Amino acid sequence: MREKFLVFGSPLIEQSEIDEVVASLKSGWLGTGPKVHQFEEMFKKYKRVKYAMALNSCTAALHLSMITIGIKPGDEVIVPTMTFAATANAVIHAGGKPVFVDCEKDTMNIDAEDIERKITHKTRAIIPVHFAGRPCRMDSIVDIARRHNLKIIEDSAHAIEAEYKGKKTGTFGEIGCFSFYVTKNIVTGEGGMAVTNNEDYANKIKILGLHGMSKDAWKRFSDEGYRHYQVVYSGFKYNMMDIQAAIGIHQLPRVEKYWKRRKEIWNRYNKAFKNLRVFTPAAVEPNTKHAYHLYTLLIDIDKLKINRDQFLDEMTKRNIGVGVHYIALHLHPYYQKTYGYKRGDFPIAEWISDRTVSLPLSAKLTDKDVDDVIEAVTEILCQ
Ligand SMILES: Cc1ncc(COP(=O)(O)O)c(C=O)c1O
Repeated sequence: MREKFLVFGSPLIEQSEIDEVVASLKSGWLGTGPKVHQFEEMFKKYKRVKYAMALNSCTAALHLSMITIGIKPGDEVIVPTMTFAATANAVIHAGGKPVFVDCEKDTMNIDAEDIERKITHKTRAIIPVHFAGRPCRMDSIVDIARRHNLKIIEDSAHAIEAEYKGKKTGTFGEIGCFSFYVTKNIVTGEGGMAVTNNEDYANKIKILGLHGMSKDAWKRFSDEGYRHYQVVYSGFKYNMMDIQAAIGIHQLPRVEKYWKRRKEIWNRYNKAFKNLRVFTPAAVEPNTKHAYHLYTLLIDIDKLKINRDQFLDEMTKRNIGVGVHYIALHLHPYYQKTYGYKRGDFPIAEWISDRTVSLPLSAKLTDKDVDDVIEAVTEILCQ
């Protein structure tokens, strides 16, 4: 058994970002400044979009997206139940109602047919989540949105590198939202980005993210001299700091290198687990690029003596950190109490919720770490 606990989702941090953070601290420019601007420019190029707005989280990006497209009380927004709370909470904080939809059993992504069933005269938008880094079937979703006059905001928290039929995730709808949280494919500690090709949306997000102060208010203390600002919305404090961007500007150029390493680990896991009593992730669909963010094993609890939570405990005992992505949102008390959801409403998401386990999948993992994970999983499942 390994001696040291393998932390789930621990990011690979290299010397250049450490030096850059130190340089930011020494420069005295800790808050939003030139490095944030540089990171936005880099991300914009990477995603091939006109505008990229750095924020302090993907949650902030999702929230501002909802406000920017005009979600207001009484509006409904379609959200997969198989996602993180932030996707639905962004709708709620804008005053809207998240309407949950089931997912596909193989891809775990939002089920397009169920989207159609849940559309009402109050529906305004869809938030597809590219789950675990696997791009959603965007041609079906774009078609539904077009036919029903709905906006699309992509939750691409897991999917920085993903592509669907040659087009990058986050660029199909009005706005794409990304996360650089510590477990994500590239990190800034906490951090997020909203991307769009719509200038009005870009300006609104920029202003709403910094107290509602007029454009480029962050420059008011620069060497160009003090500038007055005007408050044009009741905005939020969602801006990214230069200390965060200092990490991001060194992580982003390594995004493909890290992706390749995670793909290697992914393939090793697939091979190692193929004859065990588990369901390994579905094959990557043709003409798509998977971002390999989460490696989710589905424990075959019908054939095993242990359940998923016992499996988690067994992994922890063997010093391997694990995660659960996710217990579907409609199974959580808040959404049940507020909207009347209950177990039985979304059978596929529930089937996954009861079985899913995420294994470590970070570019930081050594071959020995991967061996340890494989050994632990094999030992537990062969008992
Ligand atoms: C699907 C999904 N959406 C949104 C978020 C929120 O991202 P952040 O932590 O950057 O706010 C996460 C974070 O884990 C996520 O997994």
